Amino acid sequence: MKLSILITREQINARIDQLATQIAEDYRDRRPLILGTLKGSFIFTSDLVRKLDMPVEIDFVRLSSYGSGAETSGKIEVVQDVRTIIEDRHVLVIEDIVDTGLTARFLLDHLSSRQPSSLSLCTLLDKPSRRTVEVPIAYVGFTVPNKFVVGYGIDFDEKFRNLPDVCALED
Ligand code: IMP
Ligand code: MG
Repeated sequence: MKLSILITREQINARIDQLATQIAEDYRDRRPLILGTLKGSFIFTSDLVRKLDMPVEIDFVRLSSYGSGAETSGKIEVVQDVRTIIEDRHVLVIEDIVDTGLTARFLLDHLSSRQPSSLSLCTLLDKPSRRTVEVPIAYVGFTVPNKFVVGYGIDFDEKFRNLPDVCALED
């Protein structure tokens, strides 16, 4: 297995500056609930919220989509649900990567049944070539090619989450 850097930490940092500026503008005076998805978006969420110059609330939800390794099981479960009451709240979901779209679609449906005032999605990475279900994405960090990526929170079999750059895993 070989790793090659796809997006550097400097590029990530600069892009998050732009995303944070846009999000702060869009959500001004709405005190959004920033909802990070564990575990993949833990680093992205923590870097993003530190750049949001506005009052926010932060919570996490944990889903399982991939059983293990690189193949999606297609079966998605809520492993740890949101505790915050999201009715009448402006909810911004933070994802690591939208691939087939099944996980994000499932989560958005799961949350929208609780009547939030608004529900939007921000993802660090978008892999549109793999999409099988349509998902509206309000904020995209980077569009990536059809490669398996790791680092900056994203894993392969629970490995490589701690890499500071987003890397492609070649076999
Ligand atoms: P989707 O349901 O196919 O969109 O996949 C979403 C989830 O699968 C992400 O939140 C990741 O946890 C995982 N995933 C998708 N693509 C990759 C990848 O290239 N590397 C690591 N995990 C991935
Ligand atoms: Mg994962």
